Amino acid sequence: MKPLRVGIVGVGAIGGHLAGVLLSGQTDVTLCLRHRHVETFQTQGLQVQYTSQADEVVAQKFAPTQFHLHTLDSLPDVDLLILTIKTQHWPALLKQWIAAATHLPPVILCLQNGVGFHEQVANDLQLHFPKNLPEVLGGMVPFNVVFEAGIYRQSSLGPYYFSKNESVQVDRLKQHLKKAKFSFVEQENFLGFQWTKLLLNLNNSINALSGDSLNDQIANSNFRRVFAQAMQEGLRVAHKKNIQLEKIQGLSPQTMLHLLRLPRFLFLPLLKFVFRIEKNSRTSMAQDFLARRPTEIETLNGFVVTEGESLQIPTPINRFLVEEVRKVEAAAFSDEVLMSARQALTQRGSEL
Ligand SMILES: NC(=O)c1ccc[n+]([C@@H]2O[C@H](COP(=O)([O-])OP(=O)(O)OC[C@H]3O[C@@H](n4cnc5c(N)ncnc54)[C@H](OP(=O)(O)O)[C@@H]3O)[C@@H](O)[C@H]2O)c1
Repeated sequence: MKPLRVGIVGVGAIGGHLAGVLLSGQTDVTLCLRHRHVETFQTQGLQVQYTSQADEVVAQKFAPTQFHLHTLDSLPDVDLLILTIKTQHWPALLKQWIAAATHLPPVILCLQNGVGFHEQVANDLQLHFPKNLPEVLGGMVPFNVVFEAGIYRQSSLGPYYFSKNESVQVDRLKQHLKKAKFSFVEQENFLGFQWTKLLLNLNNSINALSGDSLNDQIANSNFRRVFAQAMQEGLRVAHKKNIQLEKIQGLSPQTMLHLLRLPRFLFLPLLKFVFRIEKNSRTSMAQDFLARRPTEIETLNGFVVTEGESLQIPTPINRFLVEEVRKVEAAAFSDEVLMSARQALTQRGSEL
């Protein structure tokens, strides 16, 4: 089989993980990055650690000669382009492509959190590239990845999800994932799946504001109460919109909510056996806090607030979380503001 040529734009946690998995499956991978990251990949190559379908830990190191690097504003000649940027990076990336009048590949797969990102990309491309319009598909990553000590490490379990589609390129992508012994799921009701993931991602801001690892944060009863309340608000919005929510890893949002509301002595044993989160795992927003980068708050809790407003459903906890994250961003992640955000979060949880 001739290897599928895949370009990955945004080689952060997810882009690095996916690149490593695809290289393990003998895909022809091109990393599309900013100039400032090139030297690192040219000197250090790429290292990945992931959990295979058979629950085995796979650790692989790839030399710089085993993948391609692309740094221009235009795109490389590939069969499939995968966007693993954060949602807030898209307007600047689109501007880059417009300025370079780049040629687009036949299929673009978007793996962002939140709801509706791939539709937004499709609409923007239709406006600016009507003669060279790719098929734009959605996918989702239900597990966490951390980049530590030069390794892209998967820190919780799960497959890649793709919206059900007829794309030949995605079909070949799945064959390469199979070769790498990495699992994937094709999701018929992708919107329902995105909403469930959104409800879980409402915890991203809580994890970031807490400053704790995911395990410690979720074990904290105050923080867990805030998460449950944020999720409850999101659920009301989803129900009002008649979204048919899907399960993730066998859990529906309603079951998840029920588990989150269990007393501490019942909840803690579940953390180990149901959630199976690695010791130092953090959400991607918590990683943004550590790196002092702008976050996806507007597409997560902010989205629930906006949708709630249009449906006249109150979302005070999500609004509170958006405001706290905005304060931290505006104060350039100063220790003082981070400390007071954690206190505000604790206080809010104790009042629920
Ligand atoms: N991390 C996780 O565990 C996780 C889990 C599930 C889902 N997700 C979702 O997956 C998506 C990606 O998250 P992530 O955590 O992988 O983000 P990330 O670590 O911040 O990586 C994003 C990468 O995109 C790069 N980038 C941005 N604009 C670019 C451009 N114009 N050209 C080239 N590169 C560009 C950034 O480069 P610079 O560093 O130079 O800005 C960065 O390396 C998000 O929607 C996130 O919510 C993440």
